[in-house]
Amino acid sequence: MTIHIKTPDEIEKMRVAGRLAAAVLEMIGPYVKPGVSTGELDTICHNYIVDTQQAIPAPLNYNGFPKSVCTSVNHVICHGIPSDEKILKTGDIINIDVTVIKDGFHGDTSKMFCVGETPSHAQRLIRITQECMYKAINIVKPGVTLGDIGHIIQQHGEANNYAIVREYCGHGIGRIFHEEPQVLHYGRPDTGMKIVEGMTFTIEPMLNAGSRYTKLSKKDGWPVTTKGRRLSAQWEHTLAVTADGFEVLTLRSEENL
Ligand code: MF3
Ligand code: CO
Ligand code: CO
Repeated sequence: MTIHIKTPDEIEKMRVAGRLAAAVLEMIGPYVKPGVSTGELDTICHNYIVDTQQAIPAPLNYNGFPKSVCTSVNHVICHGIPSDEKILKTGDIINIDVTVIKDGFHGDTSKMFCVGETPSHAQRLIRITQECMYKAINIVKPGVTLGDIGHIIQQHGEANNYAIVREYCGHGIGRIFHEEPQVLHYGRPDTGMKIVEGMTFTIEPMLNAGSRYTKLSKKDGWPVTTKGRRLSAQWEHTLAVTADGFEVLTLRSEENL
């Protein structure tokens, strides 16, 4: 098992990549409206990453993924494939997951968007999922364990009657998109690996209304949906562990932590 501890120079490169990934989510917001297709959103993100940022969209051709961002609508948990046929309508919720590579390093972040007016139960799922991510981020510092992170997410999600998806997790990140360690979104306090300064990893909880069980698309291999077709939400940030806490490398200007 190899955990890549980053040097200060490498963290600076992660900062640049993280900022670019965050900027893509800020840029795409105004386009997420009823009537737009997820294929169009993908094209806008792709062109912005390649032409304006002079960066690389990491998902494109990653293990055969065919597009530049993931767009996961309603009961799609993650890895939704953008398509010109998938038109967003009022009341939909969508996760856009952006990963860019700049100067050899990855920045990975995702955000939920509401399409027009969305029902309050959907807004609540989105809010609690974001709270789970923030609560986990806020405990990160050297000496805290991966089990502590998983536990705080599971605790807050389940206390609010949502189910935590277990098949997909956060991950170490750097020159490699998905590296060790795995960052589970459930667990027990004081178990698992201790976090140390210089680690960089994502926290990206997925919460479902209804059951935690998932289904993998047989047709396209990628999209993961809830078994019961109930809604799912996800948020993601890339972090660096500092001497006394954390730095969110993909923070957007709308956020305060
Ligand atoms: N961005 C996703 C993550 O958070 C991974 C997407 S892999 C892809 O780890 F191939 F679907 F793009
Ligand atoms: Co990720
Ligand atoms: Co991601």
